[in-house]
Amino acid sequence: MSTRKYQGRFITLEGGEGVGKSTLTRGLAAALRAKGREVIETREPGGAPGADEIRALLVQGEPGRWSAAEEALLFTAARLNHLIHTVRPALQRGAWVVCDRYFDSTRAYQVGGAGLAPDDHVELNALIRADYPDLTLILDIDPKLGLARSRGAQKGEDRFEKKGAAFHARVRAEFLSIAEREPQRCRVIDSGQPAEAVLAEALSAAEALA
Ligand code: TMP
Repeated sequence: MSTRKYQGRFITLEGGEGVGKSTLTRGLAAALRAKGREVIETREPGGAPGADEIRALLVQGEPGRWSAAEEALLFTAARLNHLIHTVRPALQRGAWVVCDRYFDSTRAYQVGGAGLAPDDHVELNALIRADYPDLTLILDIDPKLGLARSRGAQKGEDRFEKKGAAFHARVRAEFLSIAEREPQRCRVIDSGQPAEAVLAEALSAAEALA
């Protein structure tokens, strides 16, 4: 008998700046829909009206505007709003949720990048009863290449992009260590490959959840 809590499946896409998560989110959702599933595409921070308002506070303005703890609290508040209004209702009705960033981004950016204590992150997840993804795809590329193809500045959403090369190297290293610690849940995909190869790898991992 299945021990899953929901009929739906929860897939998260993670990685540093400019790794191609948004393109893969769209492509993966379309490919799963073509197989007859109900799929919702969503993202963090955001994905619900309250969370979208919090997003603006986080991604705009000066890099030093918030400390690591303030950021973690804001991301977690946005996450709970997104879970309550978007993710959990979709999973409950049997939809598949493809989510561009989730709690591993807090681990990589606020813990790995900005020095928040790992236990604080664990406690914040416990506070909001954060659901565990069924699958997490971690897109990996050298942050120098990623930052060069990132589009955040065009949208005025480049607060994290401005944090510097050493910060982004720590973020990448933390994503890779998450994948090492949780090989059952996480799969690292080389995002330097052509987009079709990235999508094919992602789709085969997602289909294994059916
Ligand atoms: P995006 O550019 O992928 O839309 O994400 C917005 C920025 O927020 C990105 O630079 C990563 C950052 N971020 C965190 O630092 N912690 C988090 O928990 C999340 C979800 C995003």
